[in-house]
Amino acid sequence: MGKKDKKDKKDKKGKKGQKKPKKPKGPPMAESADKYVLYQKSVQAPEADLEFFDSTFQAEFKRKPKLLREDFCGTFAASVAWAKLRPDNRVWGVDLDPEPLAWGREHNLTQLSPEQAERLTLIQGDVRDPRDFKVDVIAAQNFSFCIFKVRDELRAYFKTCLEGLNDEGIMVLDIFGGPESIQPAEDETEHEEDGFSYIWDQKRYDAITNEIQCAIHFHFKDGSKLTDAFTYDWRLWTIAELRELLVEAGFKKADAYWEGTDDDDEGNGEFVKSASEENEDAWIAYVVGVK
Ligand SMILES: C[S@@+](CC[C@H](N)C(=O)[O-])C[C@H]1O[C@@H](n2cnc3c(N)ncnc32)[C@H](O)[C@@H]1O
Repeated sequence: MGKKDKKDKKDKKGKKGQKKPKKPKGPPMAESADKYVLYQKSVQAPEADLEFFDSTFQAEFKRKPKLLREDFCGTFAASVAWAKLRPDNRVWGVDLDPEPLAWGREHNLTQLSPEQAERLTLIQGDVRDPRDFKVDVIAAQNFSFCIFKVRDELRAYFKTCLEGLNDEGIMVLDIFGGPESIQPAEDETEHEEDGFSYIWDQKRYDAITNEIQCAIHFHFKDGSKLTDAFTYDWRLWTIAELRELLVEAGFKKADAYWEGTDDDDEGNGEFVKSASEENEDAWIAYVVGVK
């Protein structure tokens, strides 16, 4: 899941007006679909994240950051965008799974010039392992750190991150919440021009442990389906818990950034530091630890 799909939430079209699936001529679309292409189209908006990293770091340290570590980088779309953004930027992407890394090498890394690609390093490894380099910004986006389900585990990860940051450094997390996010529900976003729908499926939320199981499915205009293309087994942390754990890990402070709204009361993509907010049905926020 990503920021994009939450923002699209209220724009999604009702099923009534949908056309009937066309009778398939060739093999089902789901068979030849590339789940990473569909994921990037549905979920990722790395430029918006990068703008946030820049403005938040600049507000703290009166200069632009240069060195980024993208934890849980998957197909490392944000790393690629960071290498493109400025000629003195440098970036490391870290992920355990060789599959998305290989996909990203083939499809995303090739979008860079040789000079830009030289400033991007991929590490197949655990985000909790210590690294022999330090950065200005560590980003753990799309809620990936929620795989760490207990306080000790998450605090230990934050401690490793603190050690991986320069003296002037920030750690950026994103998190979602609101009553809609803890109810079993399927949320469909049509990508009409591409002939598929993205479905965010909240399968189960545990009231005792705050664990949440979610999945992404893709449905195609020929009626075929890619079910459980991606599955997630997370603890849904609260902003308060994340702030406390960052400080317990040694960060000087940890701030919440809440999304503003436009005239129609829709999220406007502008995140502002905030100490207190009324709950909303479904929200996404950033939490930033400052070293
Ligand atoms: C939800 S995906 C996020 C991908 C990407 N950050 C994005 O925004 O689309 C989570 C990723 O975390 C990776 N992962 C899970 N545990 C990890 C760990 N301990 N260390 C490094 N990567 C991990 C998985 O392989 C997967 O690619």
